Amino acid sequence: SDCLGLNALGHLTIGGRDTVELAQTYGTPLYVMDEDEIRRACESYRESVNRYYGGRGLVTYASKAFCCKAVCRIVAEEGLGLDVVSGGELYTAKSVGFPPERIFFHGNNKTVQELIEALEYGVGTIVVDNFDELMLLDQLAVSRGKVAEILFRIKPGIDAHTHDFVRTGQIDSKFGLALETGEAMEAVRQAVGMKGVRLKGVHCHIGSQIFDIEPFEHAAEVMLGFMADVKAETGRELEILDLGGGFGIKYLPEHDPVQYDRYMQRVAGAVERTCKARGLRTPFIVIEPGRSIVGPAGLTLYTAGAVKEIPGVRTYLSVDGGMGDNPRYILYQAPYEAMVANRAAEPKTRTVTLAGRCCESGDLIGEHMQMQEARAGDIIAVLATGAYNYAMASNYNRIPRPPVVMLREGRARVVVRRESYEDLVRNDED
Ligand code: LLP
Repeated sequence: SDCLGLNALGHLTIGGRDTVELAQTYGTPLYVMDEDEIRRACESYRESVNRYYGGRGLVTYASKAFCCKAVCRIVAEEGLGLDVVSGGELYTAKSVGFPPERIFFHGNNKTVQELIEALEYGVGTIVVDNFDELMLLDQLAVSRGKVAEILFRIKPGIDAHTHDFVRTGQIDSKFGLALETGEAMEAVRQAVGMKGVRLKGVHCHIGSQIFDIEPFEHAAEVMLGFMADVKAETGRELEILDLGGGFGIKYLPEHDPVQYDRYMQRVAGAVERTCKARGLRTPFIVIEPGRSIVGPAGLTLYTAGAVKEIPGVRTYLSVDGGMGDNPRYILYQAPYEAMVANRAAEPKTRTVTLAGRCCESGDLIGEHMQMQEARAGDIIAVLATGAYNYAMASNYNRIPRPPVVMLREGRARVVVRRESYEDLVRNDED
């Protein structure tokens, strides 16, 4: 990504800083994030939305990708909205005074307590997933003398990964209301008669790490089709269309992600055409990128330990982290690029399996990874780990979570401290 480089010592740099020095200063494993890169991503999304929707749009950052106080502050300063999916994410946002009107509360099974917290904080939009939640939210709002502004989560029946556009292909999802069974329209009818909720629009999210634009165009068409049906059936024209996130990033050199601007232009075109054809006003558009805002801005630094060559089979290179700080290989066989940070200029002549330190054979960061030759003590960098790494980290084997160092204009600061052994036993009763 744009924030990476190489210095005169042949060391990998991020945001202009020497990664080997950062590893020495803060220890490993270490997450490093370039704030300038995060801000650039926010800005280019914001500019595209303004260009194609003339200010009638909002970029909301999906905080599940990486949520901490520092990131919530950055996103607030950049003027974005925030997508939260739990009381914990909401609490983090609240703790930095994130403007509640710009928060969207998602999730397929929000608890009673979470809905109350959302109402009390004045969360701008609650994305309602199902009938039970609709009824519950209505009651909670009425009993507090409030009206919650809501969107409905809809299953548009698009599988972005297989390019399938089958109306029945996605009924089997735990998220949202189906179109083809009439469920979504029934929810609209019920909401219209309720006093505690005000239905503002509809939302969908068709998948993650998507490289093609067509599924997003299809989704916009299907959703607007439903909005037209709602207008015909109830006489109400919904104001907001939230198209979710899912834009893919470059994990490997051969990945070719969609340019945000190109995506926005094409989807805006589909929105305009469909609105014209169906006699709708162009709704206010919301998008919810997570991965593409923070993913490319981060990397993880490890110290190499044992090298184990199994002749004719593979070479294991072990690092001082693993599935605890990056569970994406064990969960999804997600590919990453790695390098020896202290010899980054050398050619990648080796193929290794990068292994973690957990007591579990599957604890790998990757297989068949092209790398420079590595020895114990080398600093290993795994790239594009800014999204869904810290966010999904665990304490498996009672290994403390690494800290997060944020770089801004070349200056480093710790935004999440390294966990201590004391942190690990904090909730244990004696
Ligand atoms: N909006 C909604 C409603 C979502 O469910 C998600 C992601 C997003 C936005 C943001 O999607 P993004 O732009 O980050 O692709 N743990 C997985 C990713 C799960 C994504 C779930 N939803 C991973 O590590 O790849």
